[in-house]
Amino acid sequence: MQTDATFSDDGAPGRYGPQRLSVELANICNLHCSYCFRSEENLYNSRAEFFPVELLRRVIGEARDVANVTKINFTGGEPTLHPDFAATLETVAGAGMTSSFVTNGWHFERVWPAIVANRHSISHVAFSLDGITRETHDRWRGNGSFDRLVRAFSRCYMSDLPFALKVTVRRDLMDQLEQIAMFAARLGAAALNFVHVMPTSTAVADESSLSLDEQRIVEEEVAILARIFKMSIGVDVGYYNIDEENAPCSPLAGTSMNVDYRGRLSLCCNLSGFRGADEEADVVADLNVEPFASAFAKLKELASLQLQNRKAALAALRAQGVKPDLFTGSPCLFCLQSFGKVPWRSAPEPELVSIRGRRQ
Ligand SMILES: C[S@@+](CC[C@H](N)C(=O)[O-])C[C@H]1O[C@@H](n2cnc3c(N)ncnc32)[C@H](O)[C@@H]1O
Ligand code: SF4
Ligand code: SF4
Repeated sequence: MQTDATFSDDGAPGRYGPQRLSVELANICNLHCSYCFRSEENLYNSRAEFFPVELLRRVIGEARDVANVTKINFTGGEPTLHPDFAATLETVAGAGMTSSFVTNGWHFERVWPAIVANRHSISHVAFSLDGITRETHDRWRGNGSFDRLVRAFSRCYMSDLPFALKVTVRRDLMDQLEQIAMFAARLGAAALNFVHVMPTSTAVADESSLSLDEQRIVEEEVAILARIFKMSIGVDVGYYNIDEENAPCSPLAGTSMNVDYRGRLSLCCNLSGFRGADEEADVVADLNVEPFASAFAKLKELASLQLQNRKAALAALRAQGVKPDLFTGSPCLFCLQSFGKVPWRSAPEPELVSIRGRRQ
């Protein structure tokens, strides 16, 4: 079910790929996707903040020594807005690691020289796609986005730079999965990763989020597409998974971690700066003032607590003979709920072992 660790934020169960770090290069963004899970405040109303290159150098060096991290995935906000994007790629290359980044593609032409200069250390680029026509994609990402994206695909394809497409599956996209796969294959994508939309408000939950039955339909269709197409196709973690024994994702398995644009170590890029969140219990340390080693120890402890909580919630329902609802059975929704990211949701929260209320 899960997508290839090479081109995805995650790996297959039990095989979570190499140790990796996602780093948010910027809090801000040039686009305005209404379903975006990053805080509106950070994206548009706060002072622009960019990850300092010096801090990046120190953090990735320590992460390599302490946690065997070999891959850095840049995200944001929009990572290509970093004023010294070239230096961030050079820093990863200089540390002997590989980089990748997820982007809306708008500024791809501008950052292309930096990509070419560091090509040897870039594993791939992931582009976010919201539709396979100008109308459907730009409806979510604004006029001009689709044309720029397609030009970016051509640049990658012509230069043999592997690229992946990342599609957030909203209800309106459910019946277009095959067309999306055909579009991705025709344009030469190396991978196509679907992910279920994470709800950021009751409006997004009502209009865009899929029910469990709808998610199952999507996952079955993706499994069929994965058998038909040559490129790697899959669904990223977040889908319903009630396996109590194994970590459901790389952050909870201790294989990946996130550093936010302020330099704080946190569990996972999905939870970081979550729109409308009440709490930041997923943040364990400020790497501006704390070494990676002690921060990483705290992160492992947090991941272990969260696994315990998830296991206990699933076991309790199993004992009562109750099928877990979507917010308990889907690991990402369970995280959103247990880390205080969805205060707008009125459902009762799971009993938790002291995760809530931690702040940096
Ligand atoms: C936050 S964006 C940052 C990188 C860049 N701005 C972009 O859009 O590719 C990272 C990824 O998160 C996805 N994303 C945003 N909101 C989401 C949501 N509510 N649920 C699931 N994925 C979401 C985006 O589509 C994108 O693929
Ligand atoms: S999904 Fe990416 S491009 Fe869209 S608003 Fe969020 S950060 Fe910006
Ligand atoms: S939100 Fe939770 S379950 Fe989902 S990938 Fe992140 S740590 Fe794993």
